[in-house]
Amino acid sequence: MSRHRLRKDVLAASLLRSLVLALGLLGLLVCVGATPARAERIDRSLRFVAAGRPDRTIPLDVLRARCGAREVRVDDPYYHREMRFLACPIRAVLELGFEAEAADEAAGDALERSSFLLRALDGYTKPASGEVLLGGGGFVAFADAALTDAEVVPFTPRFEPIDRRQVDPSPFYMVWTGIEAKDAHERPWPYQLATIEITSLERAFGRAAPRGLERSDRAWRGFERFVAECIACHSVNGEGGRVGPELNVPRSIVEYREAKQLKAFIQNPQSFRYTSMPAHLHLGEGDLDDLLAYFRAMSERKDDPAKPGSTGGAAHE
Ligand code: HEC
Repeated sequence: MSRHRLRKDVLAASLLRSLVLALGLLGLLVCVGATPARAERIDRSLRFVAAGRPDRTIPLDVLRARCGAREVRVDDPYYHREMRFLACPIRAVLELGFEAEAADEAAGDALERSSFLLRALDGYTKPASGEVLLGGGGFVAFADAALTDAEVVPFTPRFEPIDRRQVDPSPFYMVWTGIEAKDAHERPWPYQLATIEITSLERAFGRAAPRGLERSDRAWRGFERFVAECIACHSVNGEGGRVGPELNVPRSIVEYREAKQLKAFIQNPQSFRYTSMPAHLHLGEGDLDDLLAYFRAMSERKDDPAKPGSTGGAAHE
């Protein structure tokens, strides 16, 4: 409890500091008549998190010099056209970031068998298996090749604003070559990527699982689907992304939305309201029923991290 209050005070103080700093910077910019240099305030480094060792942070300049950086072309599902990026192959990035863990010969293999969380600045938290990440075609982009001159010193990476919210995708944007935009949902494409965490799914999302049910239960299939396609943006019992609303506590989504409407929304939210939740047209009736079975199972397994006595957050500490 007191820890939370303390954190709030520290946060308030640091917010105030940032505000003063930002105002100072703004004044400076107005004085020199420069363009707003949002790009300069972004921390262009990638953080690598693994249990049992201090986090490792690699600045872009180091990453770029050591990853075998190159230009790649992708059929981009967010910009809706072909894009060219300056990028590092994912394998090189993971090997640099998790170097120590992967020091032996079985290194590549160990990464392949691991699970990862891709964390973005806006709270998007996408799980991805090593198998998918290292399966070929994946890159960590750090600049739009059409807007950025790789030869200019100091190196000044630029991106066009992305997605419906038109945000800057910096510091990193994961992209895939050889994948058509219509199949993009089969790969992770996090923008504003700032942290890569190596972890197990149980460790990351244990409280969101329908524990105590037979593995053959439909709710488990729904859970797997939820982890693959929804948990990047939505939490259940407080575990998962923070881009969209929590779906289980204090009230489960199936307690205030009618099943038929819920399924229609999940499949095509744009038919209800203009929203940043993507459509899931590839989900059939059976997949949607799995998801609802999962939500119903979780409505009987509430564990609200905001309530005293919950196991909230324990898995992360
Ligand atoms: C890229 C992020 C993102 C992904 C992925 C995503 N959602 Fe959402 N979702 C949102 C946002 C943002 C909202 C809130 C805005 C809205 O309701 O339109 C939302 C709203 C919802 C709602 C609330 C509807 C209501 O008003 O009651 C439900 C239910 C939902 N999502 C289910 C899902 C399911 C199930 C999946 C996976 C198949 C999923 N979402 C995937 C971002 C996402």
